[in-house]
Amino acid sequence: MNLPTPDFIPFSRPVLGPEEEAAVLEVMRSGWLTTGKVTAAFEAEFAAYCAVPHALAVNSATAGLHLALEALGVGPGDRCAVPDYTFTATAEVVRYLGADPVFIDCRSDSANLDLDQLERVLETQKIKVVLPVHVAGEPVEWERLARLRDKFGFRIVEDAAHVFPTAGPDGLWGTLGDIGVYSFYANKNMTTGEGGMTVTRHEALARRMKVMRLHGMDRDAFSRYTARAASWEYAVVAPGYKYNMTDLASAIGRVQLTRAEGFWRSRQGLVRHYLDRLAAAPGLELPRWRDDHAWHIFSVLLPPYRDRNTFIEGLSGAGIGTSVHYIPLHRMPYWKDRYGLEPGNFPEAEARYQRTVSLPLYPTLPPEAVDRVCDQVVALLEDP
Ligand SMILES: Cc1ncc(COP(=O)(O)O)c(C=O)c1O
Repeated sequence: MNLPTPDFIPFSRPVLGPEEEAAVLEVMRSGWLTTGKVTAAFEAEFAAYCAVPHALAVNSATAGLHLALEALGVGPGDRCAVPDYTFTATAEVVRYLGADPVFIDCRSDSANLDLDQLERVLETQKIKVVLPVHVAGEPVEWERLARLRDKFGFRIVEDAAHVFPTAGPDGLWGTLGDIGVYSFYANKNMTTGEGGMTVTRHEALARRMKVMRLHGMDRDAFSRYTARAASWEYAVVAPGYKYNMTDLASAIGRVQLTRAEGFWRSRQGLVRHYLDRLAAAPGLELPRWRDDHAWHIFSVLLPPYRDRNTFIEGLSGAGIGTSVHYIPLHRMPYWKDRYGLEPGNFPEAEARYQRTVSLPLYPTLPPEAVDRVCDQVVALLEDP
């Protein structure tokens, strides 16, 4: 076993400093820990940053995706199109509501959804919601997806877990669908430890998500029946969930939001460095540069004749942390067995999975560490 050495380069590392510490301490000393005015301020600042009217803080992106589909009325008998090449959260929320995911392969030149295949599915099946994922931070082909939506009439919930804070011509990625959901999980582009944010331009969807986020409690519904509601009065209008964000987490989030653009610029710089250094690596396929790529993850594709797992062991032996994004859902026992998924139905996702390795990337990764990773990658590839 390779134990981490002092000069171990982790795959990921959150960047938290004295400002976050002070903000958390202030909440701890305030006497109010859970959802309160700090969360309200975080939501208002996040909504302003994204230029959307509604932002709702939640305790994970998974919770946010669940709320989004619930608000859109997804239920038993409905179908939602999800990528095969994603984290299981994107698909599991469809099952939470008793609906069924329809799995779409990725493109041959990108880990994002293959819209040709999506279109073929839309021609034969009624799809209620499409959940595109901006995988690794690479924006999906929005114009074409929007044209398909106009033709077939589905709703869009953007799984924007990886794409904060970059924008396309029409606004921030994650704000263009009916609802978008960001993740603030520990390794994401900004973090609250665990957490997420749903954003929408639709008042009614925001209202429903707000009620369902906290036990189905609706103070406005109560006020409808009484002239004046006291601070302790509320009405329960549905069996809701417990998905609210604490003020402790929001305090971290408010600071991280002010740093998010800087974090992204640092990621961009490190990716440029990787791309320069690895341009001549034999047989290696590199991700394409895009100005609006959020670079949550930097994955490379090994030459097909190299064994990915041996390669990962080689990096690990040199004190370099890596990961694999993703083991496609068709390989997961639950999805495979329930929906009869076979690798042959997802040739692009399967091929990508066999070849992919994600290299260390986080804002404070020193450029010398990138050099060390690149030297090791090249040495392993040159080793016959
Ligand atoms: C693509 C994608 N969607 C959703 C999630 C779920 O995010 P969270 O951990 O905040 O629930 C993740 C988490 O890693 C993810 O990578």
